[in-house]
Amino acid sequence: MKAAVVSRAGGVPEYRDWPEPEAHDGEVVVTVEAVAVENVDRAIVAGTHYTSAAFQSALPAVPCFDGIGRLPDDTLVGFGGLQPPEGALAERVTIPAGYAAPIPEGIEPPVAAALSSAISGMLGLQAAGSFRQGETVLVQGGTGVAGRLAIQIARLLGAARVVATGRDDTALNELLDLGADATINTAVDDKALIEAYREHAGNGYDVVVDYLWGRPTELLTRALIPTSFSLGTPTRLVQIGEAAGSGIRLSADALRTSGLEIYGASRNAAVGMSTAYRQVVEWVRNGELTVAVETMPLRQIAEAWTRADLRGRRLVIIPG
Ligand SMILES: NC(=O)c1ccc[n+]([C@@H]2O[C@H](COP(=O)([O-])OP(=O)(O)OC[C@H]3O[C@@H](n4cnc5c(N)ncnc54)[C@H](OP(=O)(O)O)[C@@H]3O)[C@@H](O)[C@H]2O)c1
Repeated sequence: MKAAVVSRAGGVPEYRDWPEPEAHDGEVVVTVEAVAVENVDRAIVAGTHYTSAAFQSALPAVPCFDGIGRLPDDTLVGFGGLQPPEGALAERVTIPAGYAAPIPEGIEPPVAAALSSAISGMLGLQAAGSFRQGETVLVQGGTGVAGRLAIQIARLLGAARVVATGRDDTALNELLDLGADATINTAVDDKALIEAYREHAGNGYDVVVDYLWGRPTELLTRALIPTSFSLGTPTRLVQIGEAAGSGIRLSADALRTSGLEIYGASRNAAVGMSTAYRQVVEWVRNGELTVAVETMPLRQIAEAWTRADLRGRRLVIIPG
């Protein structure tokens, strides 16, 4: 069979022959229908993710660790449980039998594949961020795939106000249609960005869903510092992604005066995972939650992997 195979550290996956998977005791073969390629997959292959060592020590290897496929009885499932060198970007995979969950009817496989990013927003808000109805949410990286989903989810969960950031005015305008009340362009000088965070905060950001880190989030922490002797509104910042950088300089006064609390996305994540997924699927089936996907066939994986023009759309690899 064919798969997308990475042969050397940091290399681009190529469409090549790969051993046909066999199911042993407790395993099942899944015919792959759709696999979303996310930043985390690229980072693992590039060697910049904390799990990269395991992937690179298994080379040659197939990237991506989950997807949508069909069991031998034709049930459409979301699957996972793959360990390098085996990955989801293949025609078929063998998984541990417990690592498959049925996908409800009415959701196309490519859309189902793209929904894993919605879970980060859902759990980031609810489990990690302890979001409550009526609060104000700031989505850092709102123009990205995960950010666009998080904006809609914040709205669906009952946020009173949603503010979102990006770097491109055309893309930022699209976020208003998704439910953002205000947008902030981060591609401005430091002073202007701090002012913009303050100007759009309303009564203060209760929860920040942070897909950026780096400069924008560092400036946000500075924007949260009160300008007079007063106590700022407590802000629960949930760290989910690092599209703008892997580090920030957190000044003492930003932490001391702002009431800032920083949580990792994995906080309480295991508890609500399946409930979150069910809710997300229901919203998608009802047409209340949308995600844009760009599909490409497996044989074009090398070209697909290096695409840099997918702003706001999730790349999903389908058979062919
Ligand atoms: N932990 C999880 O479960 C989880 C789940 C999903 C995503 N993530 C992480 O979250 C991040 C975003 O994921 P995504 O899928 O939404 O990615 P994406 O679609 O590529 O979007 C990236 C976002 O970051 C912005 N951005 C990129 N580089 C930037 C920079 N240097 N300065 C400021 N803004 C920048 C982009 O703005 P433009 O639109 O202007 O390019 C866009 O808003 C990634 O780090 C990803 O790995 C984590």
